[in-house]
Amino acid sequence: MLVSATEMLNKAVAGKYAVGQFNIYNLEWTKAILQTAQENNSPVILGVSEGAGKYMTGFKTVAAMVKAMMEELNITVPVALHLDHGTYEGCYKCIEAGFSSVMFDGSHFPIEENIAKTSELVKVCHEKGISIEAEVGSIGGEEDGVVGAGEIADPEECKKIADLGVDFLAAGIGNIHGKYPANWKGLDFDALAKTKELIGDLPLVLHGGTGIPADMIQTAISLGVAKINVNTECQLYFQEATRKYIEEGKDLQGKGFDPRKLLAPGTEAIKVIVKEKMELFGSIDKA
Ligand code: 13P
Repeated sequence: MLVSATEMLNKAVAGKYAVGQFNIYNLEWTKAILQTAQENNSPVILGVSEGAGKYMTGFKTVAAMVKAMMEELNITVPVALHLDHGTYEGCYKCIEAGFSSVMFDGSHFPIEENIAKTSELVKVCHEKGISIEAEVGSIGGEEDGVVGAGEIADPEECKKIADLGVDFLAAGIGNIHGKYPANWKGLDFDALAKTKELIGDLPLVLHGGTGIPADMIQTAISLGVAKINVNTECQLYFQEATRKYIEEGKDLQGKGFDPRKLLAPGTEAIKVIVKEKMELFGSIDKA
């Protein structure tokens, strides 16, 4: 059964660890992440962008697949199915489709509009037991067509959005989606500490988890980050393993062209990186 992400993230704040959000694209990715969570007794959040939702033929298909898969695989660790960077309309679609968590990314709206739309969605989500993430200060880089410049969120604005009753909050602290450029300045821990001071125990979310050095991840967790989103790194692991399989000519040997064989190395590679992240985030045995 899917659960909202509220309880697992509140526990993470109290226990000073973080729960990973890993994005899914198809059956193989979903299976790899669910199995890794179960094998490591870790809570997990499956992230679905609007683009990936469309790719998988719609949020209803995604929710049905995840729920059925959890049942068939006997997944007992807490799993949240979460809309990643949702639009206002996308949030409503996911609420209807059976997601247990949504992110409303109103960071590109003027603060007043972000507040109005977030308040409305908080009410609707909470009536249904669904958790909701909001964002202040757009995350840099490009993700599924959503482009941001990598702002540092204003702690006062974070407080305003936190007070609307959201369950966890993404605050831009210089993090970006995708690979970090060589001249990246690193995370702004002063901004993070100020935000934390104002919002108290509300779990903070760190987007753009790919490529952030381990020591920065640990500092971020010590300052209240309880959810870390990782996507590109899983894509790169999947791609490298798949490339290797083909470059070694394995698809040409025997029945190596069978999609179950062709996609197996990439799927195994996702399990490796997800486990590594769970170890780094400290979520193993926290189910
Ligand atoms: P990365 O692709 O940089 O890991 O970011 C993932 C993310 O923040 C999803 O919302």
